Amino acid sequence: MKELMQALRDKAMQAIFEADDVEKLEELRIKYLGKKGEMTAILRQMGKLSPEERPVMGQLANQVRGEIEGLLEERRKIVTEAMLEKKLQREAIDVTLPGRKPQLGHKHPMYNVLDQIKDIFIGMGFEIVDGPEVEREEYNFTKLNIDEGHPSREWTDTFYFTPDSKILLRTQTSPMQIHAMETRPLPIRIIAPGRVYRKDEVDATHSPMFHQIEGMVIDKGVTMADLKATLNLVVEKIYGKGTVTRFRPHHFPFTEPSCELDIQCHKCGGKGCSTCKGEGWIEVLGAGMVHPKVLSGCGIDPDVYSGWAFGMGLERLAMGEYKITDLRLIFENDVRFLEQF
Ligand code: DAH
Repeated sequence: MKELMQALRDKAMQAIFEADDVEKLEELRIKYLGKKGEMTAILRQMGKLSPEERPVMGQLANQVRGEIEGLLEERRKIVTEAMLEKKLQREAIDVTLPGRKPQLGHKHPMYNVLDQIKDIFIGMGFEIVDGPEVEREEYNFTKLNIDEGHPSREWTDTFYFTPDSKILLRTQTSPMQIHAMETRPLPIRIIAPGRVYRKDEVDATHSPMFHQIEGMVIDKGVTMADLKATLNLVVEKIYGKGTVTRFRPHHFPFTEPSCELDIQCHKCGGKGCSTCKGEGWIEVLGAGMVHPKVLSGCGIDPDVYSGWAFGMGLERLAMGEYKITDLRLIFENDVRFLEQF
């Protein structure tokens, strides 16, 4: 029995020395000293001993228990400290490491062009207004004098939300003219940039979503001469002094008379090149004098007030300015493209 007890001690000591975490030490304590442990198993055989041997054995058992407990305690301290040390090392922060630089983006090239346009118009006393992209048919078409049979009202051209064709995604920023006239005190000088939607297939010059900038002035005594002078000034600011313009008659239902404004190609000087597709001229915007029917529909007396309006495509302008040849590049958000500006 004595040998068994000594063997137990040696086995336990060895195991304790090898244990390297607190859980393992607790397992060993239970294994050797627990109620159902190995020492208990040995002591159960005490009955076999003679009365003289029993106290000797008891003493030995107490001694071994004390030794094991002492060693467990010592080992627990060492292991705990080592674990703490490891944890500290793992979580150490090297304050001398250089920081990671966050990558900063920048404004989208098209919005640079928009900012430039906004600045020009703000400088002339215009206000910038914003309006709904989900629009009523009344504002997108009817109040703009676009009659029932107009092709742009077709389901093949316009995104409608309701089967009665009453709610739609605006196809142009022109409804902002109506909103402005219905809600703003006169005189009015606004530009309204924003997204518009048409059922167009995506290609190098088309997208079902694009941006327009609407502009409008309503006041007493406003004439086509004001329209021409203002737009010529804007063109000079965008394309440079001396840019030649051409106002070409056109038709829009909500302006009368209506025109389109072209600029002489700044690349070839009008001779015809790839930028102007051989035309010598580049179309910039549609404009005209606000139709008297549109004015009176918004409660403005066309005999007292008059006004002019224009609408232009922002993507096209940005493409011209930055020599971008494919509209899709503007929307794809590929940083390799965007970083060039
Ligand atoms: N809304 C027209 C379009 O999308 C552009 C336009 C033309 C706007 C003439 C105007 C205007 O304000 O007077 O094609």
